[in-house]
Amino acid sequence: MGWRAYHEATKHSSESLHRSRHFLDWANMPDPFRHYEGAPLIDLPADPPHPGTSQPAAGAEFLSQLLYYSAAISATKVVPATGYRYALRVNPSSGNLHPTEFHFVTRGLRDWPDGLYHYRPSSHMAEQRALGRFDLGDAPVVFVLTSIAWREAWKYRERAYRYCLHDAGHAWQSLAMAAEAMGCMAYAEGSFDDDALAEALRLSSDEWPMLLVPVDGAIPTREPEGGDTVWSPGEPNELSAERIAYPPIDEIHAATKALVTGADEPAAQGCGEIALPQHAPALQSFGEAARTRRSALDFEGGDRGIGLDQLATLLDAAASPLECGFGGFVQLHLYAHRVAGLEPGVYRHWPGSASLETLRLGDQRVMAAGLSLGQSLAGNACVAFSMIAGLERACRVHGDRGYRYAHFEAGAIGQRLYLAAERLGLRATGVGAFFDDEVHRYLGLSPDQGQVIYHFAIGYPVHDPRLAG
Ligand SMILES: Cc1cc2nc3c(=O)[nH]c(=O)nc-3n(C[C@H](O)[C@H](O)[C@H](O)COP(=O)(O)O)c2cc1C
Repeated sequence: MGWRAYHEATKHSSESLHRSRHFLDWANMPDPFRHYEGAPLIDLPADPPHPGTSQPAAGAEFLSQLLYYSAAISATKVVPATGYRYALRVNPSSGNLHPTEFHFVTRGLRDWPDGLYHYRPSSHMAEQRALGRFDLGDAPVVFVLTSIAWREAWKYRERAYRYCLHDAGHAWQSLAMAAEAMGCMAYAEGSFDDDALAEALRLSSDEWPMLLVPVDGAIPTREPEGGDTVWSPGEPNELSAERIAYPPIDEIHAATKALVTGADEPAAQGCGEIALPQHAPALQSFGEAARTRRSALDFEGGDRGIGLDQLATLLDAAASPLECGFGGFVQLHLYAHRVAGLEPGVYRHWPGSASLETLRLGDQRVMAAGLSLGQSLAGNACVAFSMIAGLERACRVHGDRGYRYAHFEAGAIGQRLYLAAERLGLRATGVGAFFDDEVHRYLGLSPDQGQVIYHFAIGYPVHDPRLAG
C-alpha cells in the first residue's frame, strides 16, 4: 500500500465514523513506558536548572537538562471517578499514548562512557544498552527517535501511523528547542537505511527508527574512546499481552522505507493583502514554558481575544526554518475567531512575505469545530489552523518517504506553536482528528494544491480538573 492508498483509507468522514465500531480494550492497553529490564541504569541529576542559566560541566548534567526540558514527565493527571493517576510529559502526544522512544549514542561526552543509551522517562534515568563506538557521525550526542506504532494503533487503529509521524515531529522539535536554549544545535535527518539502523541498535521488532537528531555545540566533551561494542544485559519489556496487527500500518511503513531523491520542487510563494505587524513580547522563558506546557481540554469561548501582534508571533514561530534535511511542504490556513484587528474569517499564511491572504470572511466557529470532528475546542479557541501539506510534491521529491517528512514537519510546527502560545500566556491543542475531504471542500483545495494533515487550536484554556500538578 503506497502513501496515496493509505492516506485515502485513513480519512475520517461521517460514514467512516458511523461504520467504526471500535471499543478500547483497557486490559490490553500498551504500557506507555519501554524499559530494558536488567540494563545498567545511570541517574540523571534531578531538577536541572533552566537552559541558558548555567553551563553543564559534565555529560550527566548535560543530558539531564536536555531531556528534562524536552521529554521528561512534567505533570500528572487524576481521573476523578477512579483516582487513577497517569503521567504527562514535556512533549505532547496524541491520546497521551507516547509512541516515540528516545535512544541516544554518545561519543566523547565528559565523565560519561561512550555507548548506546535509552531514556527512561518514568524515573529520569538513562539505561545503558551498550558501551563502545556506534558509527552515527561525529556529534557528541546523536538521538535516534523511534516509534512504537502499536501504542497508537491500540486506540486509533489504521490512522495511527499518521499520529506516530506527528508525534516524532513534536519530539524532535521539543529536543531541538531545548538544545537551542542550551546553546546547541540539533539537526534532524530522516534519510537512512531503516533496517540497518534498527539492527545496529538491536531495536525490538515493535520499534521503528524515524529520525536521527545529532546534537552539537555547547557540550562538555573529552576525547572519544575507541573500543568494540560491548552489549549490556537487558531485554525490552512486552508492552501488552496481545499485539493486534494492522496491515495497512505495516504496509505504509514498508513503502516509506525506500530512499528516493527526485528533483527539488520549491514551495509556492505568494503574498496576502494583510501585512503582519511586529511581534508581541514573550511573558515566559523557554524553560518555564517547556515545563508548564499543556494541551487545553477546551477553550473559553466568550469575547476575550488575542492581538494581531500575538498572532504574528505565533505564525513567525511556526514558519521560521527548521534545521533538517527535508521540509517546506506545510502551509498554514487559519480560522480567525477572535483576533483584534482581523475580521473573523479564513486566511492563508504566506511566510515569505509575512502576510495573510483573505480566503473568506464571516464567523467560522461552527465550521472550525465541525471540521475538527465536532470538537468544540476548535470553535472556542481564538484561532484554529488547518496545516495543508503538499503531499503530492513531497512524494514526487522523496518517494513515499515524503509522506513521513510532511507529517514530521507538521508535528514540528505544532510543537513550536505549543511553546509560542505558552510563552504568550495562551494555550494550544494539537488536533489530529478532522474530516479530511470536508476540509478540502471548504478550503477549495484540489489534491495537487495540498491536503490537510493536522489541525491546531490556540486560545484561553478552561480549567482542567484532572491536572494534579
Ligand atoms: C498529533 C496529536 C494529535 C492530537 N489530537 C488531539 C485531538 O484531536 N483532540 C484533543 O483534544 N487533543 C488532541 N491532542 C492533544 C493530546 O491529547 C495531548 O497532547 C495529550 O493528552 C497529552 O497532554 P499534554 O499535551 O498536556 O502533555 C493531540 C496531540 C497530538 C500531539
